[in-house]
Amino acid sequence: MKEKIEALRAEITAAMAKTETGRALYELKVKFQTELKGIMSGMRDLAKEDRPTFGKIVNEFKTDIEEKFEARAAVVRQMEMEKKYASERIDITMPGKSYKAGALHPITLVKNELIDIFAGMGFKVFEGPEIETDYYNFTALNTPKDHPARDMQDTFYLAENLLLRTQTSAGQIRVMEQDAPPIKILSPGRVFRSDDDATHSPMFHQMEGLVVDKGITLCDLQGMLAEFAKKMFTDSTKVRLRPSYFPFTEPSVEVDLSCSECGGKGCRLCKGTGWIEVLGAGMVNRRVLENCNVDPDEYTGFAFGMGIERIAMLKYGINNIKTLFENDTRFLEQFED
Ligand code: PHE
Repeated sequence: MKEKIEALRAEITAAMAKTETGRALYELKVKFQTELKGIMSGMRDLAKEDRPTFGKIVNEFKTDIEEKFEARAAVVRQMEMEKKYASERIDITMPGKSYKAGALHPITLVKNELIDIFAGMGFKVFEGPEIETDYYNFTALNTPKDHPARDMQDTFYLAENLLLRTQTSAGQIRVMEQDAPPIKILSPGRVFRSDDDATHSPMFHQMEGLVVDKGITLCDLQGMLAEFAKKMFTDSTKVRLRPSYFPFTEPSVEVDLSCSECGGKGCRLCKGTGWIEVLGAGMVNRRVLENCNVDPDEYTGFAFGMGIERIAMLKYGINNIKTLFENDTRFLEQFED
């Protein structure tokens, strides 16, 4: 019996030293308990006087092995924890997943910059509707039906008297109907024309400006444009006015800026002229003031309208207007600030 216990002690101790998991240790413990039960029940066959001595030996064996199990359990628990930590370890040097944040579209950037510049000169923003009546888009702007100037803008009609506005100038009328002079507004927005090539898109953005007050002259327009050109482009950018024609302004001018690419020497961008046309403008036609019940003998005003895409193309050196509408992120992300 004694030898059997010693053999079992050696066997269990050795097996225990090899266990690495709680499960293996538990299985070994079950095996030990079964063996121990066998030994205990074997005690019945012993002589009565031998039983107490042997009982002591068995008890000592049981306590010894149980203590060893406890000690090993602590070791195994530690081993298991370490294994778990190792498997869950986060490599903080791994590159993270990156998410791209959206950014403002170049047209919005330019629009915001224009608003900033003109707000600094006291202009307030007015936004008119994209669907306009024939009256606001043409008739009130001194462009009656059958007026040859309507040919300048190929219009998308929705109904007899309803159209997609071809110019933000329509907002001039709405503002003058709403407010009495002095007026100083800036009106950004989308406009639509049936026109489509590398520099024209059927939908584009304009920025309209309107100033009406006593004693406003063409000089005020010129001075304000010179200031705008410096702020939007460079300090050395010059402004040139050329006579032109718009039904709603008299006199009318086409406004050129000295070429930002060559500084006026002449290059491909300015087609060798040194100047780039950026906007149309003029003194508000008396007829237009009259249409809005503003007395043209008391008040005068100037108006201007520029294409936001055109300004963006010049500012960023974009050569095809279509890239502004394709929403290709490889193009757009170049404008993130
Ligand atoms: N509305 C004109 C255009 O679309 C531009 C313009 C605005 C001209 C205001 C004069 C005054 O071409």
